[in-house]
Amino acid sequence: MAPVRVRKPPRIGPRAGPGRDTRQSAVLSREARRLLPGGVSSPVRAYEPYPRFMARGHGPYLEDVDGNRYVDLCLAFGPLLLGHAHPAVREAIRDRASRGTLFGTPVEEEIIMARMLTRHHPSMERVRFVSTGGEAVSSILRLARAHTGRPAVVKMDGGFHGSLDQLLVQAGSGAAAQPSSAGVLPNPATPTYVVPYNDPDALSECLSMHPDVGLVLLEPVLGNMGLILPRKGYLREVARLTRAAGALLAFDEIITGYRLGLGGAEEFYGVRPDLLALGKVLGGGLPLAAYGGRKEILQRVAPEGPVYQAGTYSGNPLSLAAGCATLRVLEKEGTSRADSATAAIVKGMREELERRGIPGQVSHLANMFSLFFSATPVQDAECARRAAREPFQVLSRRLLEGGVYLAQSPFETSFLSTAHGHRECEFVVDAFRDALRHLPQGH
Ligand SMILES: Cc1ncc(COP(=O)(O)O)c(C=O)c1O
Repeated sequence: MAPVRVRKPPRIGPRAGPGRDTRQSAVLSREARRLLPGGVSSPVRAYEPYPRFMARGHGPYLEDVDGNRYVDLCLAFGPLLLGHAHPAVREAIRDRASRGTLFGTPVEEEIIMARMLTRHHPSMERVRFVSTGGEAVSSILRLARAHTGRPAVVKMDGGFHGSLDQLLVQAGSGAAAQPSSAGVLPNPATPTYVVPYNDPDALSECLSMHPDVGLVLLEPVLGNMGLILPRKGYLREVARLTRAAGALLAFDEIITGYRLGLGGAEEFYGVRPDLLALGKVLGGGLPLAAYGGRKEILQRVAPEGPVYQAGTYSGNPLSLAAGCATLRVLEKEGTSRADSATAAIVKGMREELERRGIPGQVSHLANMFSLFFSATPVQDAECARRAAREPFQVLSRRLLEGGVYLAQSPFETSFLSTAHGHRECEFVVDAFRDALRHLPQGH
């Protein structure tokens, strides 16, 4: 495959405005649908009439195979906190690749990154590297069962943790529209109980009814039903209830890790979980995830303990090199550029909604945001499901036509990077203003 060419930043915006030429994407999509289910390798990438096939990324921009350029607010569903093809990450990948990419042995980069993670995240006394977020979470489930001797897990309605059988019930992201995936057994030996997010009373009741719960697992900020923030004191109360019930608390920080600063939600909200999963930003655009936690729990993982978990690509040197380079940049520069760009876009969007009298909620935290067409604040998955979907579909399609790439689903969060600047923010707000004009009557 040809490498991404390093070019000067492209001119943003469409070449031809709405109705831009996307013929190459159409042709590729037809062929992809013949070969791949739905023409994609992951369902959230599919949308009608066909998804844009991307050819290259540079900083905050994407360019498709027809040469159309977009300000990217999806960033591969979150990982690219430094933007596309950041020079430090490119250099680290090039350097590592020239010396070999996979050995099936320990490598020094594991120690370098584990030192960073244990420094950033007080809950991570020991770390195990894996390749995907789903793998990190499924390992946490097994470990928690082994540690507590209890089989059941509590998850939040709308929480998404990867394609694991046990957690594909009332899940967010691409699974948000269905109660549970086909093929998932209704009564597995390891039950999953689902409670609403932001509702400590429901959690308390669930824990008192089910003493078989060994693990309470949640995204501390719900990021797969759009963006839903925890109410004040909610996470602290979740931690208290979980511990009182003798269960373990795991934070899935695969989205929030590094987007809420070096210490993630654990530091941001001052609540320490027993187990923690990281992914996305961690690999700097390459597949890498990690789980960790208290030493006495992680000591149960093979070969130190009896909980088996292994992977050919686990801790692969190329991903670790890209990830370490990313974390070094973040340690030095932080995320303030991404945070201010997000604040500027969110401010612009709120003003436009208000000016037109459109009932919309722009949910916002650090460098993430999402838009709900709802007259009232969205505090849990049920509110998110009730928000109007049709105007979102029209809006996201118009934004795409106008040169702003965001996930074409109201259940995905939008992300910014440290490469987004003033110019891109203005462009996005202008495109948003224009897109609002095309909303169906009544909005
Ligand atoms: C919060 C959360 N956890 C876990 C996952 C699964 O990660 P991966 O896609 O790397 O398996 C995702 C993916 O979007 C996620 O958003």
